[in-house]
Amino acid sequence: MAMIGMLIRSAGWPAEPTVAGRERLSMDAGWRFAIDNATNLDYASSFFSYFAKTGNGDGPASADFNDRGWRTLDLPHDWAAEGPFDARGSHSHGYKAIGKNFPETSVGWYRKKFFIPASDLGRRIGVEFDGVFRDSQVWINGHYLGNEESGYTSFAHNLTEFLNYGGDNVIAVRADASLEEGWFYEGAGIYRHVRLLKTAPLHVGRYGTFVTSGVKSNSADVTARVTVANEGTNAATFEIEQRVEDAEGKSVGTSPVKDAKLSAGDTGEFTGVIKVANPKLWNIDAPYLYKLVTVIRSGDCVVDRYETPFGIRSFRFDPNEGFFLNGQHVKLHGANNHQDHAGVGAAIPDALQEFRIARLKEMGCNIYRCSHNPPTPELLDACDRLGMVVIDENRLMGTSDYHHHHLREMMLRDRNHPCIVLWSLGNEEWRIEGNEHGARITTTMNRWAKEIDPTRPTTVAISGGWGGGSSTAVDVMGYNYLRHGSTDEHHRRYPSQPGLGTEESAFTQTRGIYFDDRTNCHLRAYDWVPNDWGSSLEMGWTHYAERPYLAGMCVWTGFDYRGEPTPFGWPAISSQHGILDLCGFPKDGFYYCQAWWKDEPVLHVFPHWNWPGREGQEISVWAFSNCNEVELFLNGQSQGRKRMERNSHLEWKVKYAPGTLLARGYKAGKEILTTKVETTGNPASIRLTPERATIKADGADVSVIAMNVADTQGRLVPTASNEVTFAAQGPGRIIGVGNGDPSSHEPDRYIETVQALPISHWRVKPADSAATRAEVAFGFDDAGWPSAFGGGETGTTNPPAQTTVYRGSFELAEKPADATFTLALRSLGQRQWVYLNGQSIAEDAAWEINLTANALRTGRNVIAILVTPPLNPQAGKQGSPGLVRMSVPPAPWKRSLFSGLAQIIVQSTGEPGEITLTARSPGVSPATLKLEAAPTSKRPAVAGSGH
Ligand code: GAL
Repeated sequence: MAMIGMLIRSAGWPAEPTVAGRERLSMDAGWRFAIDNATNLDYASSFFSYFAKTGNGDGPASADFNDRGWRTLDLPHDWAAEGPFDARGSHSHGYKAIGKNFPETSVGWYRKKFFIPASDLGRRIGVEFDGVFRDSQVWINGHYLGNEESGYTSFAHNLTEFLNYGGDNVIAVRADASLEEGWFYEGAGIYRHVRLLKTAPLHVGRYGTFVTSGVKSNSADVTARVTVANEGTNAATFEIEQRVEDAEGKSVGTSPVKDAKLSAGDTGEFTGVIKVANPKLWNIDAPYLYKLVTVIRSGDCVVDRYETPFGIRSFRFDPNEGFFLNGQHVKLHGANNHQDHAGVGAAIPDALQEFRIARLKEMGCNIYRCSHNPPTPELLDACDRLGMVVIDENRLMGTSDYHHHHLREMMLRDRNHPCIVLWSLGNEEWRIEGNEHGARITTTMNRWAKEIDPTRPTTVAISGGWGGGSSTAVDVMGYNYLRHGSTDEHHRRYPSQPGLGTEESAFTQTRGIYFDDRTNCHLRAYDWVPNDWGSSLEMGWTHYAERPYLAGMCVWTGFDYRGEPTPFGWPAISSQHGILDLCGFPKDGFYYCQAWWKDEPVLHVFPHWNWPGREGQEISVWAFSNCNEVELFLNGQSQGRKRMERNSHLEWKVKYAPGTLLARGYKAGKEILTTKVETTGNPASIRLTPERATIKADGADVSVIAMNVADTQGRLVPTASNEVTFAAQGPGRIIGVGNGDPSSHEPDRYIETVQALPISHWRVKPADSAATRAEVAFGFDDAGWPSAFGGGETGTTNPPAQTTVYRGSFELAEKPADATFTLALRSLGQRQWVYLNGQSIAEDAAWEINLTANALRTGRNVIAILVTPPLNPQAGKQGSPGLVRMSVPPAPWKRSLFSGLAQIIVQSTGEPGEITLTARSPGVSPATLKLEAAPTSKRPAVAGSGH
């Protein structure tokens, strides 16, 4: 077998193999990116374009397109988050200047060059995308691979046959964000991870394992189904070992399959049952994870080793008693969330996913609903690790192959995550949810779901027609908003159907605001009834808390998200439904949840106490607390001691005078907590507080830094709005800033601007000798020379000659102050001399040549290239041999505080060392923060190319 060379021979069954044919390599780093007009079809412009002949991707889809005038970036990336706001933009997408009204900014191209060693020949090689928004088309070396319409479905393409082994390869991706899938912010581009996957021809298939466990009193039967694919050209005989390893990597049970056989091109499913004694169960407080290791041996070679993290746990939804995890009753309380964070948009680094789940846990959430689409898999990994139960949700309901594909891909990908307890088939499908179409469509989808995963129940989140339509066809009723019906009535009519509040509340509150300011689209952060479908947090939670038959409730939403700026439109750009703002800073409702969703004592008093101009006026002071009684004092004067009802809040009307609000909390008559809110002085100094002071130096990890200004006594000034400028030095880069203001139009990202200046009007002439240089002068008259390279960007054949002079020109409209200019050239001759406006700039076949701003003219510039001998007479067919890249560095990062806070996200650049973040603002003392990027092993990544 040709592939033997790359396999590691194991010492023989059952000795431990250490290496297998499988490699998963990150492809996140080093992409070229450019925004294109959605109407530009240059990638399909030749007579035999890519649908006609394989390998014929044109323009940016072709292998040899010069993309060196494009920006370089790492994934994940969301170009919508980088762009400006515009009143003509979509309300749903937060008025970003992208979408159907903005064809000029709605298509993004990504290209990456990578190297495949010759020794890979014989392996199966594919590319995996976690998700691209949206309608992505992919090419490898100019060969069209296919498209994925949805921005939420992970996909993969086989590359094996198309690759250059022992050479460079180019993958090109076109994403078209003209259309929307949701009514909420969705980002744009390759906003999730990309990987290269290499396997032996005999390997575990994509999403090829399915692990389920039957939990008994002191053991568990783990059923491990594995799908093996034989993509080789010969029949294969092999053995499979399925092994369960505990969190320390110790084997706790195995199941072998001997003498398995697959013909060439076949796939087969093999099942083993592994008994695990005294299993450690996965639960919310101690999310213990096991790993299934699937090893395939062929002869004495290990050909694949595939790992599936999983958890052993049991759960059920009971129609009368709610949710049980491992036999224990758990009231579910949590939040819906979209995939969007300040600074980065939909391109959320893994560590930020973890940060977000941790914030929700801190608030007391034990359930997360992925509204309204499958999340990135790393979010589910974080929920597995941190102990957060999940409702995984399908995007669009229906029964065509399109719908089946998306439901299936979500379920196959995600079904080993112990965190998932419900498959949601859809959300608020108003046209069908309460009628017979809904019943029929949901019945079919439910059958599909059971075929893919018979172990988990299904739900649909329904806003009307409860008891009819979709609700008749799922296991668990998903109630969206109590004001759409009576859960009691529904439960009485359908006593055997469990129920859960899939959405509730939908309050609209602005962090740190206590008097409505509709001009600025800011709404008070007291718990009030926001609209005619939602409720206050308290109304919603009280209903769900008091009814044992209801498994729990998910608020709308955990975090604010861009889009749906209800009840406003422009200039508001983000929702205010979150209990946390877009940065994850808590609104006051966070403490309501803590008080009633967690066991620890909580006493939170609000608003802030900086109200100059309101002296003597009554201000509502609220307490969220799980103390039995709370007494409030203003400047030592009691405002009354009040009894707290369960799931409720307390309120005092207090005549404002600057000073100190002090609250004392009592349980069973005993004072257990005090808290105070003080009138502060003016901003005096900036404070930077990292969520983590040490991050991994892996090029991906982030530290989320809170910024505020303090008065001279070190107290956070809650009304501060100072504009602060930042800079990071050392192995860290700022990747986003935010402040949670739902109507701020400040940029979230400051990025380099890169522009390609095409060199055109190429002309060519054989020269007498390399020593004669008159033809390179700026003003040399080349009008009579034949044109070359098509005279522009398209190709012609060049006349072969021993020594040849080429002349081309480019236009420079203006020279921005800090711009740098680079000539990105392909070699034309064995020896080569390059001139800019008659001055020598390179004496070799340089790939990239820096051009000094002084040597450039505004207007026309002339590039002359003298070569001897020309490398390839056909080179002209590749179009213009170069372009000039103009790069303007980003403006300094800055952000205003909103209600006293802003956030900065700093990411490792990959090197270990000290990162210094400085923050300055006029009139206050600056701050310097030191972070450490600690050495770590890096994720295996695909090798770049020579260029
Ligand atoms: C629901 C919907 C959510 C969101 C919410 C706002 O009807 O399912 O996606 O739009 O209303 O209140």
